[in-house]
Amino acid sequence: KALKIGMMPADGIGREVLPVAQRVLSLTPGAPKFEFIPLPAGFELFTKTGVALPEETIRCLKEECDGAMFGSVSSPSHKVEGYSSPIVQLRKNLDLYANIRPVVGVRGTRDEDKWVDTVIVRENTECLYIKSETIEDTPNGKVAKAIRQISERASTRIGKKAFDVALARQEMRSRLGTAAAVGQAKVTVCHKANVLSTTDGLFRESVRAVKENDSISKGGAGRYHEVEMDEQIVDSMVYRLFREPEVFDVVVAPNLYGDILSDAAAALVGSLGLVSSVNAGDSFIMGEPVHGSAPNIAGQGIANPIASIRSGALMLEYMGYTEPALKIYRAVDHVLREGNVLTPDLGGKATTDDVEKAVLLALGA
Ligand code: NAI
Ligand code: MG
Repeated sequence: KALKIGMMPADGIGREVLPVAQRVLSLTPGAPKFEFIPLPAGFELFTKTGVALPEETIRCLKEECDGAMFGSVSSPSHKVEGYSSPIVQLRKNLDLYANIRPVVGVRGTRDEDKWVDTVIVRENTECLYIKSETIEDTPNGKVAKAIRQISERASTRIGKKAFDVALARQEMRSRLGTAAAVGQAKVTVCHKANVLSTTDGLFRESVRAVKENDSISKGGAGRYHEVEMDEQIVDSMVYRLFREPEVFDVVVAPNLYGDILSDAAAALVGSLGLVSSVNAGDSFIMGEPVHGSAPNIAGQGIANPIASIRSGALMLEYMGYTEPALKIYRAVDHVLREGNVLTPDLGGKATTDDVEKAVLLALGA
């Protein structure tokens, strides 16, 4: 039986890079059989129909699909009546509470001791992204306010996810054969509890309790004790990430900090066009490149498809198909290391098509 994957390229370069991921997935030796189902979503769809995420898309994902991939959406920065970002809606609707974003360097482009190999585990459902905003006129002009929600439940489950990711990575590292700078699995809790002691305080306490409760509740059988835990305040986190990225293994953060941290980490490895993610719940996985719709390069055929290709592999990995996922990671690493087929964001002259061909060649597809 084929795996059914809902495909939502959405807007901008999402439409150029998601089909590449689809072809790579279907041509990867040893990958399961796929049935890709194209599904409408996006801002352009909204401008045409008044709906950014049709009910039918959600129904199909929930009832028929085993997994999904999302490209990128061109959300405007000004308020548009009736519009809300389909990616944010999808995360909520499918309860994809964790956004897992690995950031991996390219060998040879930095000193080996400054090797970047970290995963940002971003809480996906709350924080400032509940979008509870108000604005009022006051004698001193307009005042806008936003509510930031942090719950024990959401913080605990994202904490567990972070420990699970740390354990899974430990295993993948040895199978990939990359000697990671971080030998020992570690979770770093990122927060600003020194100022926001109530909200970030609850996040910090909840994640810390995950490790302690694991050994208690499982009568010593839990494995989280194998994972080291430390913490970092978000502003100095960015500083340390740039100074000494090699010290970070898994970083767990509330929604907004995680969003910002992962773009910052992308700069470290050279391009947003390299960074992949999955949105994960307890029973559904959606792959998604971290970048947006890149209107400045859309339609030119030069978008870097690697973030999407890796997102496809990451989706496979989190669905339990680690062998074909590893093949894709290795093929991408090979192309990056060779360095003669790179898109302009990485300083090269190659097109999206060229990179696809190079990856397929490295895959032996
Ligand atoms: P962006 O990620 O689209 O672009 C930032 C910069 O990175 C641009 O210079 C772009 O050319 C470059 N870039 C991004 N992906 C690339 C790739 N694959 N290959 C080569 N270069 C790449 O962020 P920006 O410009 O802030 O946002 C543009 C639109 O995307 C906005 O409407 C925003 O709302 C939306 N967006 C959507 C996201 C999503 O769908 N999850 C995430 C972030 C932004
Ligand atoms: Mg972002």
